[in-house]
Amino acid sequence: MTVELTLRRPDDWHVHLRDGEALMSVLPHTAKQFARAIVMPNLKPPVTTVALAGAYRDRIRAARPPGSDFEPLMTLYLFDKMPVEEIDRAKAAGFIAGCKLYPAGATTHSDAGVTDIRHIDAVLARMAELGVVLQVHGEVTHEHVDIFDREQRFIDDVLAPLVERHPTLKVVFEHITTRAAVDFVVGARAGVAATITPQHLLFNRNEIFRGGIRPHFYCLPVLKTEPDRRSLIEAATGGNPRFFLGTDSAPHARGAKESSCGCAGMYSAHAALELYAEAFEEAGALDKLEGFASLFGPDFYDMPRNPGTITLRREEWSVPSAFAFGSDVVVPMRANEKIRWRMIST
Ligand code: NCD
Ligand code: ZN
Repeated sequence: MTVELTLRRPDDWHVHLRDGEALMSVLPHTAKQFARAIVMPNLKPPVTTVALAGAYRDRIRAARPPGSDFEPLMTLYLFDKMPVEEIDRAKAAGFIAGCKLYPAGATTHSDAGVTDIRHIDAVLARMAELGVVLQVHGEVTHEHVDIFDREQRFIDDVLAPLVERHPTLKVVFEHITTRAAVDFVVGARAGVAATITPQHLLFNRNEIFRGGIRPHFYCLPVLKTEPDRRSLIEAATGGNPRFFLGTDSAPHARGAKESSCGCAGMYSAHAALELYAEAFEEAGALDKLEGFASLFGPDFYDMPRNPGTITLRREEWSVPSAFAFGSDVVVPMRANEKIRWRMIST
């Protein structure tokens, strides 16, 4: 049995760091685990310009624990009236790693997102010309489409046509949750990849209703069926460089989740690699974790792989019931339960 696992230093290709006091609380977790992270722009108001992204980047860098060399990779929030010139400014800035498509209304703080993909066709064309990556929240938003079918419908109605309409655009299909998404990415043209979260590898949708309703297992896209989960495990552990790590760690104050209308998002930054290690171990594929966590992401984004390593040890520990979150608390994944792996050095 493997007892210690050393990997090249990994990156998180999809994380929510929030802002202000909340940022101060959660950043140390991400900065301890990862050298770099793609920071989602769904603040309120959203990060729609290079100027806003630059100021947010400064706040993140200033919030790093002493001695941390963590680097935030910034994204812009696409909206119907995004000027094409913003893409030129993004390319010139040097610190923007892509632009995020939120279909309006699809998830937390997405109401200012794109109402119809045709509104941003000129922006997407410019992104393709300049090599700016598109990150996609892949769900349709129509009320009449069943919540469990929204990802698949998005592939058919929006993503597949988009990928063909812009044949050189680099696209990351974020936090995929279904067999349909895995199949789409495996069969897509070059330049299409996907991130996978720890929760979608570890849980199926039964978890949301196990013995009662469990708001801390509600995220978007929502957890799917067991066959979907198995398909994601195969994709993540199969050594295909199109699939790489993106936690989608999305902290919310406890009261905002434990509510009559609780919001979407699961917090995993405190133990992200440990949770992935459990999922890979269960699949008998610990040897595939390094590619997924540390190699395929930078290769896709044309960035250097990190120097240095981190080490995980097979050693059980208990996750606290909550972590500070500004003046509030956030309930983490595995709260009050054990995790089998522990990061022992960075
Ligand atoms: C994210 C959030 O809270 O910002 N929530 C989530 O359930 N994943 C938004 C998102 O990534 O969809
Ligand atoms: Zn997200």
